[in-house]
Amino acid sequence: MGKKIRIGALISGGGTNLQAIIDACESGAIDAEMAFVGTDNPDAKGLNRAKKHGIPQFVVDYPAIIRSYRDDPDGFPLPQDFDFAEILAKQNLLEDADGSGKAAAFIKTRAAAEAALLREMSVFSYDLLVLAGFMRNLTPYFIDRINTDPANPRIMNIHPALLPSFPGVDGYGDTFRYGCKVGGCTVHFIDYGEDSGPIIGQRAFPILADYDLGMVQKKGLEQEWLLYPECIQYFAHGRLKVIPGEPGARATVKITE
Ligand code: GRF
Repeated sequence: MGKKIRIGALISGGGTNLQAIIDACESGAIDAEMAFVGTDNPDAKGLNRAKKHGIPQFVVDYPAIIRSYRDDPDGFPLPQDFDFAEILAKQNLLEDADGSGKAAAFIKTRAAAEAALLREMSVFSYDLLVLAGFMRNLTPYFIDRINTDPANPRIMNIHPALLPSFPGVDGYGDTFRYGCKVGGCTVHFIDYGEDSGPIIGQRAFPILADYDLGMVQKKGLEQEWLLYPECIQYFAHGRLKVIPGEPGARATVKITE
């Protein structure tokens, strides 16, 4: 076995993907070990999983940060190294954002929360950051401070649909309501858009006539628990090469031998 990579994870909820990754680390199925688990949600059940396995954890209370902006937008403390115009120009999450009103509130509150995440994370050494059911969009403020080498991105996400179909918050729900006969999940590197980064791996499953939404979610999660560790192992072995797309097109990921 080669050197182990160190993984940081961000979660928002139950953390079953986190559990699959922890188990894969502990069984030696992947050459990795957990460095930390962070969350935006003080009540995230997945924190108990981290605790049980002795993994350091932290909370950045996004709802409290957003409330404090609402209470006093002018007095809201922004990170010192935050350049609003730069983030507004780079971000790809808000349509028709002119930098006022809603866009300003979104970008400023997220950057403040992301600065807090970065502060918490700075005490750990880690090679890869995995988003495992982390339900917050990350802005370029955060992404650029992790992906310091653009050729070697190191933030992965798992999405509950076969991208580029059904980006957004309810991948399995959208797949089911569309009447798809196949569902699936996708692991990708994140970029400045929503679920738009280069695809690393996908797994699919048939949606049988008698499945309800709950069944689609169950079958999908079972595939997620296999897919995430597989993709992490490619990363650990240095096998993921990002190929830039033509101008305006997606980058892709080649899995090297
Ligand atoms: C998963 O379906 C994942 O694809 C999505 O959020 C869900 C998280 O589930 N991003 P869990 O917290 O890992 O159980």
